[in-house]
Amino acid sequence: MTLRKLIEEAAAKILSAERVAAFTGAGISVESGIPPFRGKDGLWSKYDPVLFEISHFRAQPIETWRLLKEVFYNFMAKAEPNAAHRGLFQLEQMGLLKTVITQNVDNLHQKAGNTDVVEFHGTSKRLVCLDCLSSYNYADIEEHVTDMPPLCLACRGILKPDFVFFGEGIPPKALQRSFMEAMLADLFLVIGTTGEVYPAALVPIQAKQKGTVIIEINPEPTAFTGQITDIFLQGKSAQIVSELMDQIAMVRSKTR
Ligand code: APR
Repeated sequence: MTLRKLIEEAAAKILSAERVAAFTGAGISVESGIPPFRGKDGLWSKYDPVLFEISHFRAQPIETWRLLKEVFYNFMAKAEPNAAHRGLFQLEQMGLLKTVITQNVDNLHQKAGNTDVVEFHGTSKRLVCLDCLSSYNYADIEEHVTDMPPLCLACRGILKPDFVFFGEGIPPKALQRSFMEAMLADLFLVIGTTGEVYPAALVPIQAKQKGTVIIEINPEPTAFTGQITDIFLQGKSAQIVSELMDQIAMVRSKTR
C-alpha cells in the first residue's frame, strides 16, 4: 500500500478512536537539531554511555557534567519544537489526543503546548540534589551551574539532572500513568523510537496486547515494526505528522 493510502488509513483510525495516546522517542526531536542516542550521529557513537550510569556519576560527577553541559544544557535548552511536536499539540487542541508519553527529556512537547505530557525518563529542566533531594529549576540556578559539579544551594550536595540515569528507577508516577494509558487508550501513535529500551518499550507492547491500534512513524523499521505495529508510516516525523494532520483536517472539514 502506498504511503498516501497508509496516511489516509491512519487518519481514519485516529478520527474514529475513543482515546489516543502518543509514545515518543528521541527521533521526534531530531528535526529540532537534537541528536538521537542510537543510529547515525547518535550520542552513544560519540560518548560512552557509562557516563550516564548513576554509580559512575556519583564517583566522577565532573566528567559527566561536562557532557551534560555540552549536550543537554548549552544546546538542547535552546532547541525549538518542530512540525511533529506542533502536530501533536494540534491533535490535542482538536480533542483527538489526550496524553503524550515521552522518553525524551528535552521538554519540547510542553514547549509545543501539549498539556498532558508524561516524562517517562524525567526531565532536564530540573536538577535534584543527590544528598538532600532538593529540586531546582535549571533556569533559576543557571548562574550557579558554573561550579563543576553544580552544588546544592541548601546542603552543598552534588546536583544531578532530574532524568533517569542507567541504574536508576523510572519515576513511579510516570510509570503508573504510562501503563494506565496503555490500558485506556485504543490507539497509540508511536513516533521516533527504536523500541529497544526497557521498561519504556513495554508501554506500547502492553497496549497492543489488549488490542490497541499501533500507528508507528519512523524513517526505518524498528523492534516494534514487525511485532506490534498495525500501520507503519515510514519517514521523518516532521513530514509524516504534517501530512497526517492535513489529512485529518481535510476529512474533518468534509464531515462538518
Ligand atoms: N523522525 C522520526 N524518527 C527518527 C528520525 C526522524 N527525523 N530520525 C531518527 N529517527 C528514529 C531512529 O530511526 C530511531 O528509531 O528515532 C529513533 C532514535 O532512537 P534512539 O536514539 O534509541 O531513541 P529512543 O528510542 O528514544 O531511546 C530510548 O534510550 O538511551 C536511552 O534514555 C534514552 O530515552 C532514551 C532511550
